[in-house]
Amino acid sequence: MSADPPYPEIKKTHTMAHTGRPWRDYKPPPAAAVWSVIQAGNTYWMLVAALDLGIFDALATEDAQTAVSLANQLDVSAPHLQHLLDSMVTLGFLDQLKDHYELTETAERYLCSSGAAPMTDLVRISPGPLENWTHLAETIRNGEVNTPIENDIRGFYGPLVQATFPTQFRVASRLGLKLGWARQRDYRVLDLGAGCAPWAIAILQQVAGSTAVINDFEEIVGLTESSIEEHEMSARCEFRAGNFHEIEIETGAYDVVVLGHVCRTEGAALAKSLIGRAVAALKPGGKLLVADYFADNDRKMNPFGVQMGMTMLANTEKGGTLTHKQMHGWLVDEPLEAIRLLEPIGFNLVYVATRL
Ligand SMILES: C[S@@+](CC[C@H](N)C(=O)[O-])C[C@H]1O[C@@H](n2cnc3c(N)ncnc32)[C@H](O)[C@@H]1O
Repeated sequence: MSADPPYPEIKKTHTMAHTGRPWRDYKPPPAAAVWSVIQAGNTYWMLVAALDLGIFDALATEDAQTAVSLANQLDVSAPHLQHLLDSMVTLGFLDQLKDHYELTETAERYLCSSGAAPMTDLVRISPGPLENWTHLAETIRNGEVNTPIENDIRGFYGPLVQATFPTQFRVASRLGLKLGWARQRDYRVLDLGAGCAPWAIAILQQVAGSTAVINDFEEIVGLTESSIEEHEMSARCEFRAGNFHEIEIETGAYDVVVLGHVCRTEGAALAKSLIGRAVAALKPGGKLLVADYFADNDRKMNPFGVQMGMTMLANTEKGGTLTHKQMHGWLVDEPLEAIRLLEPIGFNLVYVATRL
């Protein structure tokens, strides 16, 4: 018999007890899982090209277009464009009726710059520097990242925090609805690693009479100030530039302290100590908000969280997977009560806890 015989039909009698494990001993598994990973890399670049060419924004202005009319509008090769449009149909970003293409609701919402929740810039920025992925084996061999994002705070975090603002502003705003911020008054807020300050802005918008102390690195805080100015809140904000592990923070002074997507880049020891600093800054009854992308405790049930951890490992000096067990463990070690986990929008989790 050859080493890899043609697949015999699997019958009911082909159980483990009769003939061994059906897949492993009897019929080889399909190669589809390997192909799907190869294709996943390719489809990412197809989406980047579609965004770079402005396909979604062009389709947002007209109901439906053919490949030829869209190619004329964008000044690109029609047969090449048609392949890209067909690929976008396979990904669920375009619908196709005969020769006409139009946006799906997903593309309207997330892939058009005028959409309700644009992720257009995030697509390119979110994976981190490309060379970190092409050198991933080397990173794992050496235990060290070649081009950590910490080497270029302005170059990496600048575009990132602008690209993530729309999403995080929606998360924060919806969290406010759940927590009833509109019924509160005069909060004093501390937003650590604020980026374009989606969290502080959402709180200041919803809680009348509030003020905020907003922190980020010196290289980023100019962007933070512009964002606050754009939302006409400069008079209610103080900016405190510097490393959030080192800046001076008042004890027992704040009604809300926000750690929005800052823990997963820090590694366990620094994340735990940052949570300690944040809790110490709260007044009794004040709320700690920790938003992040978490993995399940066994690191196998939530692929998004596990793969986000890999993205941190590939791109940062100390970051990696952050499990619920870790985060919850750090929170219960602090003088906190009523620790809750909320999901204001899909995939975006926030721990909310009250200072004793
Ligand atoms: C992923 S962004 C999150 C921005 C914002 N909090 C949000 O939720 O959208 C991380 C931010 O933390 C800032 N950051 C990272 N490490 C920091 C540190 N040690 N001190 C101050 N800011 C830091 C980065 O510059 C960046 O603006």
